[in-house]
Amino acid sequence: MEKILIIGCSGQIGTELTLELRKIYGDANVFATDIKEAPPEVRDSGPFEILDVLDEKRLNHFAIRHKITQVYNLAAVLSGNAEKIPMQAWNINMIALLNILELGRSIRLNKVFWPSSIAVFGPTTPKINTPQLTITEPNTVYGISKLAGERWGEYYHKRYCIDFRSVRYPGLISYKTEPGGGTTDYAVEIYYKAIEEGKYECFLKEDTGLPMMFMPDAIKATISLMETEAHKITVRSSYNIGGMSFTPYDVAQSIIKHIPDFEVAYKPDFRQAIANSWPTSIDDEVARNDWGLTYDYDLGSMTEVMLREIRAKMNS
Ligand code: SER
Repeated sequence: MEKILIIGCSGQIGTELTLELRKIYGDANVFATDIKEAPPEVRDSGPFEILDVLDEKRLNHFAIRHKITQVYNLAAVLSGNAEKIPMQAWNINMIALLNILELGRSIRLNKVFWPSSIAVFGPTTPKINTPQLTITEPNTVYGISKLAGERWGEYYHKRYCIDFRSVRYPGLISYKTEPGGGTTDYAVEIYYKAIEEGKYECFLKEDTGLPMMFMPDAIKATISLMETEAHKITVRSSYNIGGMSFTPYDVAQSIIKHIPDFEVAYKPDFRQAIANSWPTSIDDEVARNDWGLTYDYDLGSMTEVMLREIRAKMNS
């Protein structure tokens, strides 16, 4: 029987992943933790505890007490916020992962999941259809920590046989829990503002193309990777996953089909430079071949769901 520990259950990915894993493994077997309170659906559907992953002693004690066999470590400071607090961001993004890898070694965890990001790429990386194996010279604190994390994951796999698995998420779009402090956050904010105010001031230029993915596809990808037999996993650093690619202009146009008066102004801030350093589109053939990565959503179908669900949330 698997006992799963989620670190960062109150975040954008954690909220939805916890609920999905509880459906598969049973509510009582998925232990949700965070340094902040969990959203009601996570708190009320199974075990939840406040836990700081940087507190190694408590983390180890928790894992032993609950006989944890798998860990999903989702704790992170995203790209925009990390630039404001570089050392704290490095600590949270890096020490948290090392604590989990060491835990994996000491209690023989079956599997560890840790999210990497398109932020491992940098200005010298080929931008279009970025290959799995390519130049990675990130120039943000977030990107540097994600690249280092990938290297540590692969190292623990080789050296200590830890079953480390990871994907390089593109920008993630969801309506349940909002992201915080990322460069791709505009693609969530824009839907809320379209409904609430009919206008939006975008912090990226209109022609900034970035890889993006709707959360249901990201959750599906994560679970397929984690359920694949270990011998099929050929990448022990982190898999490219691409989703779709669009610009702020493209999202605005897809919203205008439903809200014709919607207006967007473009006022790039410091995050424009971060976005400029990232790829426009991703080649995810290795993930498709190794563990059957597929997607269900494109920009049009995602926009329909986003607008419908945000409206429903506001009316309730
Ligand atoms: N969504 C993240 C960010 O913008 C990228 O991994 O920071």
